[in-house]
Amino acid sequence: MSATIGLFYGSTDGAGATAGELIKTTIEKTGLATVELHDVAYTDLKEMERYSYLILGVSTWNIGLLQDDWEYKFDQLDDIDLTGKLVALYGMGDQYGYPDSYVDAMETLGAKVMERGGEPAGFWLVDDSYEFEYSKAVIDGVFVGLALDDDNQSHLTEERVQMWVEIVLEDFGLMVPVPA
Ligand SMILES: Cc1cc2nc3c(=O)[nH]c(=O)nc-3n(C[C@H](O)[C@H](O)[C@H](O)COP(=O)(O)O)c2cc1C
Repeated sequence: MSATIGLFYGSTDGAGATAGELIKTTIEKTGLATVELHDVAYTDLKEMERYSYLILGVSTWNIGLLQDDWEYKFDQLDDIDLTGKLVALYGMGDQYGYPDSYVDAMETLGAKVMERGGEPAGFWLVDDSYEFEYSKAVIDGVFVGLALDDDNQSHLTEERVQMWVEIVLEDFGLMVPVPA
């Protein structure tokens, strides 16, 4: 039986929702897991406790801050036990418009997830395709999750998602890495 992943996203203008759909489709094509999508605006965050594998999507707004739906429900995370759950993050942002706070909210959410016992998965390299000055979400040279930028680089989203999904499935222990 394949695994079930809970994907929870907060999205104001729909970019993170669309990316969530793409991540779901990409994962399900592998046949290794099914993905249940939850829009944080309409979901009780307690639902997160039903899953062993989580993907959380958050966009950054108002210069380095959480997307509104996550912001509104952020304190509810203090009542949620994520112990032992593997949690991967993806973030939407605009690196040209906000080069000093690109996808910052991914770090805010990631720090809270770890505080609640979640185990981080799905780190992502900062490669040459990115052009920003600073991001809180880069720790020890890597993004704490998949950084997307549909405002400027939507042509790269599908390829980034494809590569990241493999990393996530490996980190979740659902896919055996192919030897080089
Ligand atoms: C007022 C405003 C502030 C923003 N602040 C940031 C920011 O600090 N960092 C960033 O990476 N993106 C920032 N963005 C860009 C959004 O994160 C980006 O448009 C994203 O795709 C929105 O995703 P969503 O539609 O899923 O909410 C900002 C956009 C607006 C309009």
